[in-house]
Amino acid sequence: MTGEPTTTARVFQIEGGFGLDKLSLAERAAREPGPGEVAVRVRAVALNYRDLLMVRGHYNPRQPLPLIPCSDGAGEVVAVGPGVTRVKVGDRVASMFAQDWPSGQPNKAALSSTLGGPRDGMLAERVVLPERGVAPVPAHLEDAEAATLPCAALTAWSALVTLGGVTAGDTVLVQGTGGVSIFALQFACLLGARVIATSSSDAKLERARAMGAWRTINYRTTPDWGKVARKLSGDGVDHVVEVGGAGTLQQSIRAVRPGGQISLIGVLAGGASELNMTPVLMQQIRVQGVLVGHREGFEAMCRAIGQHALRPVIDRVFPFSEARAALEHLASGRHFGKVCISI
Ligand SMILES: NC(=O)c1ccc[n+]([C@@H]2O[C@H](COP(=O)([O-])OP(=O)(O)OC[C@H]3O[C@@H](n4cnc5c(N)ncnc54)[C@H](OP(=O)(O)O)[C@@H]3O)[C@@H](O)[C@H]2O)c1
Repeated sequence: MTGEPTTTARVFQIEGGFGLDKLSLAERAAREPGPGEVAVRVRAVALNYRDLLMVRGHYNPRQPLPLIPCSDGAGEVVAVGPGVTRVKVGDRVASMFAQDWPSGQPNKAALSSTLGGPRDGMLAERVVLPERGVAPVPAHLEDAEAATLPCAALTAWSALVTLGGVTAGDTVLVQGTGGVSIFALQFACLLGARVIATSSSDAKLERARAMGAWRTINYRTTPDWGKVARKLSGDGVDHVVEVGGAGTLQQSIRAVRPGGQISLIGVLAGGASELNMTPVLMQQIRVQGVLVGHREGFEAMCRAIGQHALRPVIDRVFPFSEARAALEHLASGRHFGKVCISI
């Protein structure tokens, strides 16, 4: 029956144009997995800011439609095609953000193999993916928790561990309390680093302290937070997890110590602006772009999460039928940690 449609699965897809109002429920044929493929009954999806940009048409306005959005999902393997060896029926797995990036440096094939655009994503009851495009998740995690790992968690892990070499005694600054930053806070604590967290909300900063942040700064009431962070840490922080982009980079450059690293991850505060780059060279600051990460990094991260029984922070789980409301909640910025959808 390889490749033959057997039944249907409900999906959310962007169709007829971009915008939250264009996200509609549809039925798609649910084919059986072919050679090297697995079918996954998706149990939960976790949202990323990128999914919102994708639905709104801001990520890639030329993305062909219809498209099933969302890169991150977790569920159980319900069928395997011929030759599959990595997983078996019944295994709990998560999707890999980049389906064709096993390890090492990214290349064109890896960068164009991402789920939720250009490839169909996980906001579906059932998906068929290459076996290399899924990986087992730590056993102690609930479905929604497992769904948070492919993009936000792996990005934080890649920034701090794979590309950052953060170690015990380091000081790490995390910006805001969204998905990536809260994982960065958790991983930095796990690595024995101390964390300075920023947020626009004092209530969220209190929660960050309860999670182990060493010092916190409200970036709204303290616009010169880079200077404050530098002072707090002595010579400057060792590592900044930069999710604001051009709008916050100047402050990050102020915060970081000579020879320190800024992991450039997001552009929440803008993608372009005029910046004074002189301190970057005069202080030999390393500005490292981060694009999520590879499968090998995902597996290493899952070992750490499993060994330390780390639990992702979930703000809210919406039912499948309320996918649009879930994206609106993400857009509001009211969340702390991850916004998920149960399927
Ligand atoms: N390069 C990659 O591989 C990669 C992977 C994942 C995400 N990203 C990008 O990284 C960014 C964060 O993603 P996410 O999924 O974590 O988003 P998210 O969960 O939507 O994060 C939103 C939070 O970011 C904080 N924030 C907004 N503007 C800020 C500013 N000017 N300064 C400091 N913090 C600010 C706010 O925290 P408070 O409410 O506490 O102020 C807000 O609640 C996005 O731009 C996303 O596209 C990139």
